[in-house]
Amino acid sequence: MKNIDSRTHTRGESVYLDDIPLLQGTLFGAAFPSPIAHGHITKLDISEAEQMPGVVKIFTYQDIPGENQIGGIIQDEPLLAEQEVDFCGMPIAFVVAESNEEARAAVKKIKVEIDPLPVITDPRIAQAQGALIVPPRTFILGDVDNIWQACTHIFEGTADTNGQEHLYIETQGAYAIPQENNGLKLHSSTQSPRATQQAACRIIGVPMHFIEVDVTRLGGGFGGKEDQANAWGAMCALAAYSLKKPVKYSLHRMDDMAMTGKRHPYSSDFKIGLDENLKIIAYEVTFYQNAGAAADLSPAILERTLFHCTNTYFIPNVRARAYSCRTHLPPNTAFRGFGGPQAMFVMEAAITKAADSLGLDASIIQKVNLNKTGDEFPYGQLAVSEAHACWNKAEELYNLEAIREKATAFNTSNKFLKKGVSVMPICFGISFTNTSMNQARALVHVYTDGSVNVSTGAIEMGQGVNTKMLQVAAQVFSIAQEKIRLLTTNTTRIANTSPSAASATADLNGKAVYLACTAIAERLLNFVAEELHTEASNVALKNEYVYLDGERTEWDWKRLILAAFLRRINLSEHAHYATPEIYFDKLKEKGHPFAYHVYGTAITEVTVDCLRGIYEVDAVKLVHDFGTSMNPAIDKGQIEGGLVQGIGWMTMEEIVFDKAGRLRSNALSTYKIPDIYSAPKEITIEFLQTQTDNLAIFRSKAVGEPPLMYGIGTYFALRNAIKAFNPATQIPFDAPMTPEKVLLALYSEEVAKLKEKHEQAVRNMAIS
Ligand code: MTE
Ligand code: HPA
Ligand code: MOS
Repeated sequence: MKNIDSRTHTRGESVYLDDIPLLQGTLFGAAFPSPIAHGHITKLDISEAEQMPGVVKIFTYQDIPGENQIGGIIQDEPLLAEQEVDFCGMPIAFVVAESNEEARAAVKKIKVEIDPLPVITDPRIAQAQGALIVPPRTFILGDVDNIWQACTHIFEGTADTNGQEHLYIETQGAYAIPQENNGLKLHSSTQSPRATQQAACRIIGVPMHFIEVDVTRLGGGFGGKEDQANAWGAMCALAAYSLKKPVKYSLHRMDDMAMTGKRHPYSSDFKIGLDENLKIIAYEVTFYQNAGAAADLSPAILERTLFHCTNTYFIPNVRARAYSCRTHLPPNTAFRGFGGPQAMFVMEAAITKAADSLGLDASIIQKVNLNKTGDEFPYGQLAVSEAHACWNKAEELYNLEAIREKATAFNTSNKFLKKGVSVMPICFGISFTNTSMNQARALVHVYTDGSVNVSTGAIEMGQGVNTKMLQVAAQVFSIAQEKIRLLTTNTTRIANTSPSAASATADLNGKAVYLACTAIAERLLNFVAEELHTEASNVALKNEYVYLDGERTEWDWKRLILAAFLRRINLSEHAHYATPEIYFDKLKEKGHPFAYHVYGTAITEVTVDCLRGIYEVDAVKLVHDFGTSMNPAIDKGQIEGGLVQGIGWMTMEEIVFDKAGRLRSNALSTYKIPDIYSAPKEITIEFLQTQTDNLAIFRSKAVGEPPLMYGIGTYFALRNAIKAFNPATQIPFDAPMTPEKVLLALYSEEVAKLKEKHEQAVRNMAIS
């Protein structure tokens, strides 16, 4: 089934927040952000701004009738700053005016005086000063302390990854509309309607049933709207509630970039020990997560970093420790992979360090350490592994040996163009690591003419989840997709939803749709069996007809529904699904947190221009474990998008904060994301279709996040290309590998000499 949104998307008819028709009298909001990263507010002067044309009201924390708190996991984040600002871009006031332009003009007239306090942007410095969001966590398997002496080879190092801007095409925003008796309808570009509802109610100080959140779809979320849509929803709700007027706020791109958190940068230390057969028998790793100024989702992300600290390898002795460090950056948040990619980069860096030192290709170490079914992850769960299946299939299908030989031949005959090849195996756990979040609901109505409406807690953000929901209903009822409509995600129809996140949206909500449709179908079959004087087990729904003992009857879908209605059969169902089997004990740091894992292997080929430091990704050829894909077209789209997003993170996307904590890469002119020219010239996706029983909907494994991690392969392929040009170069593990860093690595000795010469010249100048 093709994506049900493709028609309205291509015609420009799909509805996003900005497409909702505005009610007469709608007012517009704009936040006033802190100009500095850390300090005490000594004076806030809004008098001039209040006199600006069109201004209706300027809200500060003193205008909040409820609690000035939007922290989800930890209550450490005010909606509007009180006495202190903790990051540059932190909202201090919320201006509401008659037009967008007037609101933004008034923001510029607000004056604030702030006594600056020291600014920390480095997580290691924060950790050294004891500035932690939560106590450190440690995962342990085996006995790492007593295994080092058994190691033939031991290597240590550090690895750093930078953040990543979500750059959803639709920026953050919300539109709040007052209802009678102090109720509110809140349209929000949120991945988590429940969280946005809760945050808004808390700010206003009303129970949750006062606010209905409604979401048609998002123009992308990528994790950036899992938690960070709440602030804007709460601001609009606050203003609409107190002014009794509709209030809308849709952020400008530069404001969105400056005021919202990003993927967490991590700085990490590793120590890896191998035996004489290159088996990794010991791994110790310490992660310093740059959480930013408030907890947001950092503790959960920290946890997933630990879950993925060994990627897809079986290592019998592991100690992984993780610190969530409080700095003065905007609170960092969920981003596709949720801390997993950062951990996997460190693991690959450790293997690469070992391989470099031993004069081997990293793939030799990678391959012998892939996990097998029954191997234990550091958190106690046993693998049901497709790691070897994916790797072996990729190696054979794409002829890895030939790819290598071609690259070597190319490198021998080219002086200033060098090719590099890497293999990147992945393994990603599916389920919210917080077990209680693994639940979902669906509401299905069959109308008397046989048409069907489906509501779920799933948010459509481009990943195609609505199409999959429709497929589930169409399959259970065995009716044409045209008979089914997917409705908006709405907290009145579906309450208490988990965010659409953790790649688990289709699994959780799809199972709920399945349960709801199955319950209705069972009632229909019982009814028609009675009519046909037979047992329910002899009848079935097929291609819009009732079949009796495999034969088509006169009962078509429409007749069945109408007859059932007249016999007062319930044609509606609200179903609840909770993932079975999963649990996690945080005291022991052991359990079975994931419904299943997704595996895959990508082979990446790149070419580096060794004069200019620029590069191209020639090809990414991968084998991905889809289980039994229920929609190959959509799943392929997710692989391509995730891969390119991962390549962007690893190569060109460079977030720059200055020492004062100000974002310098705050627009698309200074923050480069992959375009069609920087996407791989070739992407080949081979489906590993497995029949293994899993907890996925129709055995179709979750696909949203895992492919991002194939992008890590590009980093290591670039490294190999650089080493083909300059074998002696020492390249720190420090992503992204921007063209500037490539140049520095290509000419490391020359750069060192130049630097020395320059410093000498400066010294001479000083002397003379
Ligand atoms: N694909 C598109 N087009 N847009 C998005 O915002 N978000 C990603 C991924 N793929 C995203 C996307 C993230 S971070 C997650 S967790 C999953 O989709 C969420 O959807 P799923 O659970 O249905 O896979
Ligand atoms: N993944 C994504 N989002 C989440 C998770 C998770 O494991 N836990 C809480 N929010
Ligand atoms: Mo995705 S980072 O779990 O929204």
